[in-house]
Amino acid sequence: MIIFNNIVGFKNHLRKLKNDNVKIGFVPTMGALHNGHTSLIKKSVLENDYSVVSIFINPTQFNNINDYKSYPINISRDIELLDSISENIILFKPDTEEIYSGKVVSDSYDFGDLDKYMEGKHRKGHFQGVATVVNKLFEIVSADNVYFGEKDFQQLRIIEVLVQKNGYKLNVIRCKTIRQNDGLALSSRNKKLDISSQNIATNLFKALSFAKKNFDTLDLEVIYAKVEDLLQNFPQISIDYFAIADENDLKPIKHKKKNQKYRAFIAADISGVRLIDNIKLY
Ligand code: PAF
Repeated sequence: MIIFNNIVGFKNHLRKLKNDNVKIGFVPTMGALHNGHTSLIKKSVLENDYSVVSIFINPTQFNNINDYKSYPINISRDIELLDSISENIILFKPDTEEIYSGKVVSDSYDFGDLDKYMEGKHRKGHFQGVATVVNKLFEIVSADNVYFGEKDFQQLRIIEVLVQKNGYKLNVIRCKTIRQNDGLALSSRNKKLDISSQNIATNLFKALSFAKKNFDTLDLEVIYAKVEDLLQNFPQISIDYFAIADENDLKPIKHKKKNQKYRAFIAADISGVRLIDNIKLY
């Protein structure tokens, strides 16, 4: 696998490959790779001639400095893992200076209301930071297909809008959330949880599954109340939000409408680690 830390070297390499009219897939990550990432990477490897994986812990998307500083890092294991997947992977692993050239700030994007709800409300500036780095990476990588997991569904929608607004010729491929057998959605942050907290964390998926099972038959208020009751049994869980929202505009709903696609979203702090998850309700 070829590894690049700087933009110029990376772009020169890509330019040479692109001369042969090859298809480039792209999987942006912040490292600490797990099976959720590998499923995106394997899909990209299958659907493209070369796959770029970026590893960059983006400072502008963290609204909490301790969260940034404690973000899990395991670069040698990540490299080993990528090496074992395919020789057609190119790893782009820039540092902060390479990406931000001394100006570590977000650009300003208008996503309408998409970034006002849920994560947008609870993590001020988060999506501006995500959009800033993803936009920079899109310009550097100029891929044909980019792969994002549905676990970060609000991020996925925002990126779809970013691609549309900026007129990138880039297919955004939605990839299903990968879960442990007990339902816990895979996340790099799970590495910060001990076994007992991981067990407690499975209740987020239980709450989402309850919402899915009962969405057609129970009133929304009843679902909200039952989810709260379920999670209140666990003092280690502090809920940021539980919301049922339209899948397209992400606006949390008060009433269900026929023929609309909805998702249930949850964010909670478990023993000091913030986790998010969502499930489609159709
Ligand atoms: O989902 C992530 O890992 C990050 O938000 C991303 C898309 C790599 C941007 O830093």
